[in-house]
Formats: sequence, C-alpha cells, structure tokens
Amino acid sequence: MHSLSKLARTSSSLVRLLGPPLSQPMTRRQAHTDLEVPDFSAYRRKGNSDPTAPNSASFEERASFYYLMSGTFGVVGLYSAKKVVCGLIDTMSPAADALAMAQVEVKLEDIPEGKNTTVKWRGKPLFVRHRTPEEIKTEQAVDISQLRDPEKDEERVKKPEWLVVIGVCTHLGCVPIPNAGEWGGYYCPCHGSHYDASGRVRKGPAPLNLEVPFYEFMDGDDKIIVGEEF
Ligand code: FES
Repeated sequence: MHSLSKLARTSSSLVRLLGPPLSQPMTRRQAHTDLEVPDFSAYRRKGNSDPTAPNSASFEERASFYYLMSGTFGVVGLYSAKKVVCGLIDTMSPAADALAMAQVEVKLEDIPEGKNTTVKWRGKPLFVRHRTPEEIKTEQAVDISQLRDPEKDEERVKKPEWLVVIGVCTHLGCVPIPNAGEWGGYYCPCHGSHYDASGRVRKGPAPLNLEVPFYEFMDGDDKIIVGEEF
C-alpha cells in the first residue's frame, strides 16, 4: 500500500515536469482580434482601391505609371552611363603638357631664303625650308616615274616656297643633314640616303620620302602651325 502511494506521487511529479500526455486535448492559442489593421487607402491608387473591379479596368492607369517610372529611370541611367563613359575616356586623353606639345608654331619671317630651320615637335626634329625659285623649279620638273616613292612636288607642299617635313630618315630613323647630299636637299650620314629639296628619297637605302606632317598657314602666311589639335 505504501509503495502504491509512492508510485502515484512519482507519476504526478513526472506529469508536472513533462506536461500532459499527447492523448490529452491541448490548449489552442486564440487569434488576437483586438489588433487594429492599418488603413492604407490613402496610399493606394484610385484605380486599385475597388477590390471587385477587374484588372483591365485599371490597366491604362497602371501602365502609364510604369511607363513614367521606366522613362525616368532610363533617362537617369543613360545620364549616369554617359558620365561614367566620359570620365573613362577623359582618363585616356593626353595630359595638358602633352597637349601643349601637340602643336608648334614657326615664324616664317625668321627663315631666310635658301635656309632650313629645325624645331622640335612631339620629340622629333621638324625641318622648315625656305626654298629658292631655282629649287622650286628643279623639284617641280622632276620626272616622278624615276622615283622610289613617286610624289609630285605639288603634292608635298602647300606653298612652293615652303617645305615642311619631319627630319627623321625613313630608313632607320637617323636625323638627316639639311642642305647636303647629291641633290642638295637632305643627307642621312648613317647609311647614305640622299633626299632632294622636296624631301623625296633619291638614293640610298631609305624606302620612303621624308614625312610631311599636317600644318596650316596662319596670320596672313607669316607663320605656320604644325600638328592637329586633339
Ligand atoms: S638611317 Fe638614314 S640611311 Fe639609314
């Protein structure tokens, strides 16, 4: 009898500790019906406020809203992309000191007839030659079919009195000597290339004529600007 009461006390302690067995009904949590649902009507578009209206009834209003948003974000996106691309291209542009070297100005009144002046342009020598009437006549009369790199004198000058060429031998890049060589134009002592007073190769290993850069006459032909603006 004593052991039975002890067993009953032990089992009631276990039930308190572990909870009721699964076979017994459990308490159910009740819904909180006292909470107020916020009213978002003020924020809803009028076309969507009627829950019984069909989707097609508010299609145009919604579509115009989406078109407006798409257009706005599209314009903002394009503008941002343009800024990014322009920024990237700017980083690839030459620096201000390089731009300053891009063009060189040469005063022609300082060069006497029959003389050649040499100026530095983009790290290379630039020959500006004031040709005499005899030189002009001689170069214009050359039969270009005899030349290695056939070019008429008229194609190489803008005004017959002025020859502007880059002073770099087209063989291996030496700097030719002005008013020298068998044709009196330029002579490259490195391997013996001769150029005439139009800068055309006449003898030696040079394959091409001296290069004519882009240049323009300015201030009533008193000076030339060599090189293009970036
Ligand atoms: S570099 Fe001028 S002839 Fe060779």
